[in-house]
Amino acid sequence: MALNLLLGQTLYFKGDPFQKPWQEVTNHCQDGAVLIDAGHIRAVGQRTKLLADFPEAKVNDYGNDLIIPGFVDAHVHYPQTAIIASWGKRLIDWLNSYTFPEEMRLSNPTYADEVANRYLDIALAHGTTTMASYCTTAPASVNSYFEAAKTRGMRVIGGKTCMDRNAPVGLIDTAERAYDESKYLIDKWHGKGRAIYAITPRFSPTSTPEQLHILGALWSERPECLMQTHLSEQAEEMTWVQDLFPSARDYLDTYEQHGLLGARGVYGHSIHLKPREIDKLAEVGASVVHCPTSNTFIGSGLFDLMGLAKAQVGLGLASDIGGGSSFSMLRTMAAAYEVAQLQGVAIHPAQLLWLATEGSAKALHLKNVIGNLKPGVEADLCVLNLNSTSAIDQRVENANNFWESLFPTIMMGDDRAVRQVWVAGKAV
Ligand code: GUN
Ligand code: ZN
Repeated sequence: MALNLLLGQTLYFKGDPFQKPWQEVTNHCQDGAVLIDAGHIRAVGQRTKLLADFPEAKVNDYGNDLIIPGFVDAHVHYPQTAIIASWGKRLIDWLNSYTFPEEMRLSNPTYADEVANRYLDIALAHGTTTMASYCTTAPASVNSYFEAAKTRGMRVIGGKTCMDRNAPVGLIDTAERAYDESKYLIDKWHGKGRAIYAITPRFSPTSTPEQLHILGALWSERPECLMQTHLSEQAEEMTWVQDLFPSARDYLDTYEQHGLLGARGVYGHSIHLKPREIDKLAEVGASVVHCPTSNTFIGSGLFDLMGLAKAQVGLGLASDIGGGSSFSMLRTMAAAYEVAQLQGVAIHPAQLLWLATEGSAKALHLKNVIGNLKPGVEADLCVLNLNSTSAIDQRVENANNFWESLFPTIMMGDDRAVRQVWVAGKAV
């Protein structure tokens, strides 16, 4: 395969900007270059040097654009693509009114194919090259998702959503079916090409203890899989969990009791955590995923990013489509900034960008696989135009340094800022 040399500004991370000063762990190069060889990054450096070292490479000159890793969306529901921006409900009503009826429609494999392809095209147009998506309870919806990703060469994570109560009859499975179908789908997809399987109990209110237990057993049989679920998103949901699991110490305990807590566990939302839950998540090395546009859109609350970072809990960032209000990880970073401001903290643009790339990759156990510009990492890249609209452009004119020229795109950018996306070393 031909070598490709991408020229532009480059930015990569040498560490976690929530654990070390951002100045120590970021590398920005004004005259940078990234060399891609056979789907992987082979070198990152000064453009003059890489041009001289690899004269045979095909040059892709992006001028002053910023080359970064493709965005990683650590929690999304692709089946909810068509119901994004549905008005006026809080979580439980929103699930019953909009989400479950739409997820039921994906029992038709033709419609599931259509939505999976539509979702991945929209995600790529926004610079998102990897996502961890819930599918529906229908196994065909998992096939649609992984097939659509395979066609595009994308590294994606997904799993059949398991629910055996508190959802419409047409959408629920049973404990046994959840086990059998998940196992079948793991064998069919996990580790095939770039696909990764996540065992996916939706959340405690829609699983009986029997279903949680059998999925915990499946995870212990297949520990190489991820496990994704929801945790402590909204007050009414938490009261419901307490009623359904009276003997549980807290919400996390409803998973812990059934073998669904571990390092490869990824817990979406995690807003209203108790100290025991935070300590436990940190102790086992699990990750939580911040979904800021969803948390404001559905009115769930303010995620304690700095508190969880301080407690050394793994952190990812996500759109949570369709509870989230944007497919764009730029809009998602902007919302994360605003949610932190409401708590008296200004997140640095380096921290925001890390969350949307290497942070989410790490939360999904894909550090050094995707999410950074480093030799050996898979070549999923996003090229950002930092002057994509007149409003952004006039602000950038007054920027005093690189971070000031990037921040307006983080706060005001969207798919118009995405100049080009590369997936597995190929321009999309
Ligand atoms: N909790 C359980 N299911 C869902 C879902 O689909 N979206 C959100 N935001 N929260 C949930
Ligand atoms: Zn969700």
